[in-house]
Amino acid sequence: MTVGVGLIGAGVISAHYLGNLTTFPDLQVRFVADIDLDRAKARADEFGVPAFGTVEQLLADDGIQIVVNLTLPSAHAEVDLAILAAGKHVWSEKPIATTVEDARRVLDAAEQAGLRVAVAPDTVLGAGLQTAFRAIADGRIGKPQTATTMVLNPGPDRWHPAPEFLFQPGGGPLLDLGPYYLSTLVTVFGSVVRVSAVGSIARPQRVVESGPRAGTTFAVEVPTHSALLLEFEGGASAQATFSFQSAIPRAGFVEITGTDGAIVLPDPNMFEGASELWTTESWKGVTGQDKPVPEVIEAVGATAGRGLGVLELARAIRAGVPERASGALAAHVLDVMLAAETAAASGTSVAVSSRVRAPEPLPADWNPAERTLA
Ligand SMILES: NC(=O)c1ccc[n+]([C@@H]2O[C@H](COP(=O)([O-])OP(=O)(O)OC[C@H]3O[C@@H](n4cnc5c(N)ncnc54)[C@H](O)[C@@H]3O)[C@@H](O)[C@H]2O)c1
Repeated sequence: MTVGVGLIGAGVISAHYLGNLTTFPDLQVRFVADIDLDRAKARADEFGVPAFGTVEQLLADDGIQIVVNLTLPSAHAEVDLAILAAGKHVWSEKPIATTVEDARRVLDAAEQAGLRVAVAPDTVLGAGLQTAFRAIADGRIGKPQTATTMVLNPGPDRWHPAPEFLFQPGGGPLLDLGPYYLSTLVTVFGSVVRVSAVGSIARPQRVVESGPRAGTTFAVEVPTHSALLLEFEGGASAQATFSFQSAIPRAGFVEITGTDGAIVLPDPNMFEGASELWTTESWKGVTGQDKPVPEVIEAVGATAGRGLGVLELARAIRAGVPERASGALAAHVLDVMLAAETAAASGTSVAVSSRVRAPEPLPADWNPAERTLA
């Protein structure tokens, strides 16, 4: 039996999800809901989903076991709690919530109801990062010790038709892009125990630059540049920069150095991409002005895109095993991001108390296109 899926929030990212979820043989997408019914109908029609309507109508469908929550960060917790109250499992877009308390309420409600909450990013399940994780787990760089990550761009006011939420609490480059980079680092190094940070706002107002509302001015409420220093349990450390105020586009910069080598990971906001492995081998025979050459590790695994995590959750529920993109991992990442905001505002380093176990790498032959659920 396939697992029935409903989707709430028919905005920009829903097209990516529906394009993939409707092709996975283990899932059946049954319903699209939104507070804007025209939007829900348009997406349902576009992707051949049989029904659309309100959130209440979606939650009344007994054939739906997992609800995909693609609403705005400020609504994630409230919508998750309604999904759980209806007896259904949750896949939520990131961040899990905008406060530590709300994230806790969601996880507690799930535990009490015996239901699951899994949270984006599912890029960590994609072929690119999974191949890098397997190389690290195989000891190719020795013991991982330090990391440098960076993502810079001018900001989503350039391309998003309703970008305000990305400049309000729950947004900013830290909470919008941080989950991709920090979930990657936590998967490699384990829990973060302490954070220092600085943050700044370059321009207090921005203008919507694309779509029907182009020209609309709005206020920037959170830092648009955040630079973090992270300390992990076990002593590893990382620096991470997130910026919506750079004219230089730099996406996907993640380098991890270990005792025996270093690895450049593919973009953690993507599902594919090769890794570069640098070891003493890369420097063999290099003299004078010669350049060392890394080993390129081509990605092996699933590249299907957003929605992979929904499928992994469905298969994990049926198998009775933990899902990999867990709510606990997302809640820890939120703790880290909010600790960084506190650190930047107070000029102190801030301890992070939550702990999480890094998920196991996916088997290289894990295949979304296969029908596995009888
Ligand atoms: N846009 C992207 O490229 C992108 C990429 C990755 C993740 N995300 C995440 O996906 C989520 C949605 O982003 P988006 O860009 O699609 O936003 P969006 O504004 O385009 O769409 C959000 C949709 O949710 C609906 N909505 C809001 N509150 C609701 C509620 N309480 N009940 C029902 N519907 C509700 C809105 O009407 C809207 O149609 C965010 O958490 C964002 O961080 C977006």
